[in-house]
Amino acid sequence: MKEKAIVVENLKKSFGKKEVHKGITFTVYDREVFVVMGPSGTGKSVLLKQIAGLIKPDSGKITVYGIDVLNLKREEEVERFRETLTYVFQSGALFDSYPVWYNVAFYLIEKKGLKEKEAREKADYYLSLLGLSGTQDLYPSELSGGMRKRVAVARALCMNPKCILFDEPTSGLDPVMTAILDRLILKLRDDFNKTCVVVSHDVKSAFRIADRIAILFDGRIVEVGTPEEIKRSQNPIVKQFINGEPEGPITELLEQRDG
Ligand SMILES: Nc1ncnc2c1ncn2[C@@H]1O[C@H](COP(=O)(O)OP(=O)(O)OP(=O)(O)O)[C@@H](O)[C@H]1O
Ligand SMILES: [Mg+2]
Repeated sequence: MKEKAIVVENLKKSFGKKEVHKGITFTVYDREVFVVMGPSGTGKSVLLKQIAGLIKPDSGKITVYGIDVLNLKREEEVERFRETLTYVFQSGALFDSYPVWYNVAFYLIEKKGLKEKEAREKADYYLSLLGLSGTQDLYPSELSGGMRKRVAVARALCMNPKCILFDEPTSGLDPVMTAILDRLILKLRDDFNKTCVVVSHDVKSAFRIADRIAILFDGRIVEVGTPEEIKRSQNPIVKQFINGEPEGPITELLEQRDG
């Protein structure tokens, strides 16, 4: 039996009257690439933020490699959690007033006390993995959207956590860069033994990288399976989503809400 990396149990979360999560349960295993898909606004980012401890759910339980995320008490526990899991924001969330290399090396310098030279070497290495050599001294405002996104990924890798949550790492990237990032995620699993949770809208990319895919819709996970199982699914929600059809249960729910 594979080791459990992330266990989410009966997670519920509302913002005011809006029920975003109505009871979400799933397990991500060690060294798995687990892709979460679903229509815009179904709560994928909120789900990752809850796993990362950035948003508190109303109820439920989350453990990450045995760490009880919702009850981090002592400072050592908080520190252990921070070293175990990193969240790459959908927006990148870079520090605009620092150059690229410092954004990537920030954690190593500010938290780990590494000397600037050593930290910069590490930052250079991860930037080169993401095709960003030569951008070290630029500022985030001087980068394209896709480049900012890749800097955020380099920053997460630099922290060397066991588990990385990626919020739409390939949105805004061209097809070649998407393929490179996909390959990098598989490399993280195969060569660096990482566990990756990836939120994605890109069906082709999801099928390429996922060990398993979860489809989130209307506050629940409607299906979890291997890419083959998801492709063969007879669930009308899953079918509409992966085939990108304009008519179906997803559209009906949106119309009900708007109407
Ligand atoms: N901090 C917040 N306060 C209030 N409502 C929020 C907050 N964060 C998210 N929401 C709401 O929760 C719902 C889910 O948002 P979320 O960002 O998780 O969607 P998503 O699935 O990531 O969408 P997208 O694919 O567009 O990124 C949305 O209706 C959003 O308005
Ligand atoms: Mg989102």
